[in-house]
Amino acid sequence: MAKTICIANQKGGVGKTTTSVNLSSALATIGKKVLVIDLDPQGNASSGLGLKRNDTQEVNIYHVLIGEKKINEATYKAKKENLEVVPATPDLVGAEIELVDTQQREFRLKQIIATITNKYDYIILDCPPSLGLLTVNALSAADSFLVPLQCEYYALEGLSQLLNTAGIIKKNLNPNLHIEGIVLTMFDTRNNLSHQVVSEIKNHFGEKVFSAIIPRNVRLSEAPSHGLSIIDYDAKSIGAIKYLELAKELDQRVNRISEQPSKKQQSKLSKSLNKSETTGEVNV
Ligand SMILES: Nc1ncnc2c1ncn2[C@@H]1O[C@H](COP(=O)(O)OP(=O)(O)O)[C@@H](O)[C@H]1O
Ligand SMILES: [Mg+2]
Repeated sequence: MAKTICIANQKGGVGKTTTSVNLSSALATIGKKVLVIDLDPQGNASSGLGLKRNDTQEVNIYHVLIGEKKINEATYKAKKENLEVVPATPDLVGAEIELVDTQQREFRLKQIIATITNKYDYIILDCPPSLGLLTVNALSAADSFLVPLQCEYYALEGLSQLLNTAGIIKKNLNPNLHIEGIVLTMFDTRNNLSHQVVSEIKNHFGEKVFSAIIPRNVRLSEAPSHGLSIIDYDAKSIGAIKYLELAKELDQRVNRISEQPSKKQQSKLSKSLNKSETTGEVNV
């Protein structure tokens, strides 16, 4: 069974799509079978993995969510071995509206993923920058969620709202949901503030923060316009090296946890998540 991980943060521009694309690609590079499901109507994960809008507009995640197509009909091969994509187009905006009146609308994606989970090691869900029905579907379908946080002064702004939503979903829709971890993105070595933000977040969230910190790297912002992940665009870049490090760290974490689930894994952050279920508040 695949491990399904939702890449979530309702803030835009924090590195969700960059992380979805490059973490998935790095996992595929280390030999894992990976499916990326693009849940953002902007479709940036789809184009970043080399899919062309013209080729995908007839059959994509929208058609799967509204029940017109099966997920395997909307699954496309990326340019990379081991990596497949269910793309999104702006049509996906309509799914949020069309699903509102349907039964079990929060579980659409969960039911869809259940039909293909045996084919992959990882299913990565790239979320839109909101906490609407698409993100609720993703959090209901996922085993865990991973939060990219940009190394800037307002990094934590909005995180309590995300944890609160996740807490409500854990309580009502997906009891096994847990936090996979926090990935610090766009770290700038020359900027003192970046260093301060990293130490503050590490102090607060401890082991839930991945050791691999993603630096600001121009190659990471260039790669999507070539339809390539950073590993295929410039394997020697610091961005590629760090996303590979992140993939290995994640894979070790996932395997360690599945071998021996223990209370030790509970960090301050997962406690925050549990707390948010009962109080509706998270102290971040
Ligand atoms: N580590 C990084 N270094 C440089 N540019 C980055 C980095 N991460 C993301 N970007 C750029 O920042 C912008 C926002 O990133 P994106 O991944 O699309 O965020 P989100 O999906 O959270 O909205 C994009 O133009 C992307 O290319
Ligand atoms: Mg995005």
